[in-house]
Amino acid sequence: MTSFRITGRAPLEGTVEASGSKNAALPVLAAAILAEGPVRLERVPEVGDVATLIEVLSELGLRIERAGDAVNIETIDPHPVRARYELVRRMRASFCVLGPLLARRGKAMVSLPGGCNIGPRPIDLHLKGLSELGAKVEIEEGYVAARADRLFGAVIDLSGPRGPTVTGTANVLSAAVLARGTTVIENAATEPEIVDLGQFLRALGARIEGLGTSTIYVVGAEELGGATYRVAADRIEAGTLLLAAAITGGRATVTGIVPDQLRAVLLKLRDAGFTIQGSKDRVTVMSHGRPRAVDVTALPYPGIPTDLQAQWMALLALADGQSVVRDRVFPGRFAHVDELKRLGAQIELRNSTATVTGVERLTGAHVAASDLRASAALVLAGLAAEGRTVVHHIEHLDRGYQQLDEKLAQLGAKIERVALSKYHGV
Ligand code: EPU
Repeated sequence: MTSFRITGRAPLEGTVEASGSKNAALPVLAAAILAEGPVRLERVPEVGDVATLIEVLSELGLRIERAGDAVNIETIDPHPVRARYELVRRMRASFCVLGPLLARRGKAMVSLPGGCNIGPRPIDLHLKGLSELGAKVEIEEGYVAARADRLFGAVIDLSGPRGPTVTGTANVLSAAVLARGTTVIENAATEPEIVDLGQFLRALGARIEGLGTSTIYVVGAEELGGATYRVAADRIEAGTLLLAAAITGGRATVTGIVPDQLRAVLLKLRDAGFTIQGSKDRVTVMSHGRPRAVDVTALPYPGIPTDLQAQWMALLALADGQSVVRDRVFPGRFAHVDELKRLGAQIELRNSTATVTGVERLTGAHVAASDLRASAALVLAGLAAEGRTVVHHIEHLDRGYQQLDEKLAQLGAKIERVALSKYHGV
C-alpha cells in the first residue's frame, strides 16, 4: 500500500504546469480503434487509468508504444472485439471502446462495468444511442454485445435525469463518424473533453460540427485515416492545484491550461475571497487570510465540475461561516465526508446536501478514501491541517493524477510518498 505523509500548513508558492487531461485522453485513446493509419497522441498523462486502457487496447489488437508523454498507436490485428470483465471492472472508462469497436469492427463485446463507489452510474444512454444508430444491443453473460454490419445516421437525444452523459456522448460520437448519413446528437455533453475527442476525430478526417454545444452534427465517413494530436490539459488537475494553493493560504500559478474552462471555479474562488489572475494559458490564485463560506453545487459543464466537488469541500471546511455543498451530477458522491471529519471538519450530510460549518483549524490524522477525487480532497485537507496527515491508498489518486505529490512538492508542500506495510508506526 502506498500512502502520502504530509506535514501541513506550508503555504504553497510558485508555478506548476498541468499534465494532459485524463478524461480527454481516455476516449481519444479508445477512438484510435477507428483509425486506418498510425496515430500519435501527445500530452497523454502517465496515470493508472491510461495504463489500464492501454492494456485493454493492446488486447484489442492495437500496438501502443509510450515515449514520455507521447503514445504511438497502430492497429496490428483488427479482429478482437472483446473487452474483459477484469479490466472494465478495474476502470469503467474502458467502456469507451464500445462505440469505436462497433463502428470499426461491426461487433463489440464489452463487460458491463458493475458498481461504482461514487454512486449509481447507469449506461442506458450509451446503449440507447448505439441502438438508434442501428446496432442490435443485447446483454449476454455480463457483457454488452453490440452488432451492426453498418450503422446509419439518426437523431439521438442523450439527455439523462441529471443532464447529458459525458462518456455516453463519446461512445455515440465515436460510432456516428463511421455511420452512413448524418447523425444529430441532441443534449450532447458540452464538456471540454468531448470537444477534445471531436477535434481528434476531425484530425482523423471525420466531419463534425457543433462541438461544445448541446447539438452535435456528424456526417459519417467511409473510413478515417491516422493523425498526430495533442490532448488538452487537465482542467480538473489544474483546479485541484489551485484549490491546494488556496487551502494553504498560498499563491500559485498553474500553466499550460485554458483558463476559460475553469470559469465557474475561478468565479467561485473569487466569491470565497481569493484574487484570481488569468491570462491566455495560466491562472494565478492569491490568498488573503481565511476563505469566506460559499455554496457550491456541482453541475454539468460549464458549472463547477463534480470532479472538484470534494476538493471544494476540503477548502470550505476551513472557511469563515457555513457553506452548503450539493452534487447534481452524482448526488451520492460524498465518500470524503467521513474522512474529512476525522481531520476535524464539521460537516452534516442530509438528503444529498452537505452543510459545512467552517472551523479555524484541521488537525492531522490517518485517512483513506476509496475514490480518486475524494483522495485528492484528503490530500488538500492534509496540506492545511496542523501536524501530520497520512493519506492511505494513494493508488486511487494515482489512477488520475500524474505525480500530484511531486507537483505539490514543487510548490513547497511537505509531502512524501511512502510504502507502508501497516497503518501503525508512522
Ligand atoms: N447517466 C445516466 N445514464 C447513462 C449515463 C449517465 O443516467 O447512460 C447519469 C449518471 O448516473 C450521472 C450523470 O448521468 O448522474 C452523468 O454521468 P456521465 O455519464 O456524464 O459520467 P461518465 O461519463 O461516466 C465522466 C467522467 C467522470 C465525471 C463525469 C461527470 C470520464 C472517464 N469520466 O463520467 O470522471 O465525474 O463524467 O463529469 O470521463 C473522475 O475523473 O474522477 C470521474 C469520475
